[in-house]
Amino acid sequence: MRTIVDRMARKKEKRKAGFHELPNCFDRNTKNKGRWGEYFGNDLPIILELGCGKAEFSLALAKKYPERNYVGIDLKTDRMWYPASIAVDEGLSNLAFLWIHLLEIDEHFGEKEIDEIWITFPDPFPKARQAKHRMINPPFLEKYKSILKPDGKVKFKTDNRELFLYSLEVFVKKEGVKLDELSFDLHAAEEMPEDYKFKTTYEKEFLAMGLPINYVGFSFVDK
Ligand SMILES: C[S@@+](CC[C@H](N)C(=O)[O-])C[C@H]1O[C@@H](n2cnc3c(N)ncnc32)[C@H](O)[C@@H]1O
Repeated sequence: MRTIVDRMARKKEKRKAGFHELPNCFDRNTKNKGRWGEYFGNDLPIILELGCGKAEFSLALAKKYPERNYVGIDLKTDRMWYPASIAVDEGLSNLAFLWIHLLEIDEHFGEKEIDEIWITFPDPFPKARQAKHRMINPPFLEKYKSILKPDGKVKFKTDNRELFLYSLEVFVKKEGVKLDELSFDLHAAEEMPEDYKFKTTYEKEFLAMGLPINYVGFSFVDK
């Protein structure tokens, strides 16, 4: 007899396989580097969501802004399959997905090809030995810098205060990072745009637990 765990595992495998069949999903063999505009069929701004998971944020904003292109990136195809299939069903041609490790990001986007990068609730990797996996570490930042336009921005939000403070230390120590916006309670910050406050499922749960959302927007000044 199949258990719930078996059924969930089968569903996951189905979603993983399904990812590769969708026309808006790409893997590391894609040849879109420097040519994402050709894929989207326009010269509109390109915005990335790193570690997008189910990409609720990009899905909502791609619907709201047809004049912008979004690419969600994650290591897990089963998570991206769901928003990718919604985008196909709803004819959202400005949303695509890429299955890569973020340290490969500069192999898949050309120099200065990207307008904006969102890092939404990344895994905190709290143990010291896991620290190298944190998405806001200098080796990751170097890659983001190379693909961003000179006036491009990185926008980062997290419920995890320790990760947030760690990231601020990284930004201050790293030459050429300029903090443009900062809030230790994004949803209470009236000056912050409403789009930043779009609440994903996780975000709603964190807020319900009384955890404020930390937000920082930054850019690279020596580009
Ligand atoms: C905590 S989840 C957040 C998902 C989503 N951003 C949200 O707010 O609901 C973090 C995601 O980052 C992805 N991830 C972690 N490290 C990554 C890496 N080096 N490259 C690509 N994706 C990564 C994980 O697979 C996971 O889906």
